[in-house]
Amino acid sequence: MIKNDLFLRALSNQPVERPPVWMMRQAGRYLPEFRDIRDKYDFFTRCETPELAAEITMQPIRIIKPDAAILFSDILVVPRAMGIYVELKDNLGPIIPNPIRSLEDVNKTIIPDVNQTLGYVFEAIKITKEMLNNEVPLIGFAGSPWTILCYVVEGKGSKTFDTAKGFCFSNPIAAHTLLQKITDTTILYLKGKIKAGCDVIQVFDSWGGMLSPVDYQEFSWRYINQIIEAIADDTKVIVFAKGCWFALPAMSNSKAAALGIDWTCSAENARYLTGGQITLQGNFDPSRLLSPIPKIKKMVHQMINEFGTDNYIVNLGHGILPNIPVDNAKAFIDAVKEYNP
Ligand code: CP3
Repeated sequence: MIKNDLFLRALSNQPVERPPVWMMRQAGRYLPEFRDIRDKYDFFTRCETPELAAEITMQPIRIIKPDAAILFSDILVVPRAMGIYVELKDNLGPIIPNPIRSLEDVNKTIIPDVNQTLGYVFEAIKITKEMLNNEVPLIGFAGSPWTILCYVVEGKGSKTFDTAKGFCFSNPIAAHTLLQKITDTTILYLKGKIKAGCDVIQVFDSWGGMLSPVDYQEFSWRYINQIIEAIADDTKVIVFAKGCWFALPAMSNSKAAALGIDWTCSAENARYLTGGQITLQGNFDPSRLLSPIPKIKKMVHQMINEFGTDNYIVNLGHGILPNIPVDNAKAFIDAVKEYNP
């Protein structure tokens, strides 16, 4: 049994004394302890060495004390396992030197044996679960097939992902073949993560908002929903789709346990679009953590008042930024613990 089960109760629509809180990208560059490890090992070494991934996962648990841990890893370990070479360059983000641009390229990718290619992630989960000692639940995650496609086709990060979109619209057969292969790999991967001990799964669709509502259904939601259907009987699934308020009604009718909300959608709108029942997670603007601490605390309390204490998980509307002072990150978490309706 998990000692602090606020997060699990919020995901099961059970009453809570206060809402649970964690932060997307809570293991990251705003922590000096993370930067120390980063100085010694390159990015994928950190992901692929189970002891390092577990240690990095534990850092925010000790320092800012959220109500859930999220395994340190990256969504791009999945395309790497499929045979697509991905590098991570400082200040440039992910680079794919040979991006996918044709059906021929898609056919060269593989649906891997996940125990062989991603076994290091499962090992990291087992070590992390031991280190956590049942204090808080552990979240495992994957990128949505669409968001993975964005990187492997574009070849790098982008503000618009025009090349990735152009590939889908000019070569839909290749695009759907690729999306299905990523989906099949992701399902095997997430089943492995659940088996290794993850208590909850979050799917990150960080670039879903690049698509129109109609294209979103065709190129993203359909595949996310396949993933939810495949694992929802085994675990609670959270879907975080940035910029996708238009898809909230469809998502709230799926087997997802909770939906992530970004800061461009108000609590009132999010509750309206999701029918008022499903658990929502979010949606503090990550840049707002640069406000003075009293202001952060006041805004967090306002946010809880707007979402309500039940069926709600406090989080940011996207990942924490590297330039946030640790004290401000801690103030965000503390504000939730101090909440008094
Ligand atoms: O939440 C957590 O603490 C777990 C760790 C986590 C990382 N990446 C570690 C990471 C998670 C959940 C991710 C997911 C991820 N990775 C997403 C989806 C979430 C989101 O923020 O939209 C995406 C789009 C990626 C791809 C990715 N990885 C990019 C674009 C970058 C470079 C840009 C950046 O933010 O630095 C990464 C690198 C990365 N992944 C870092 C971390 C801590 C920073 C680089 C480093 O540590 O050297």
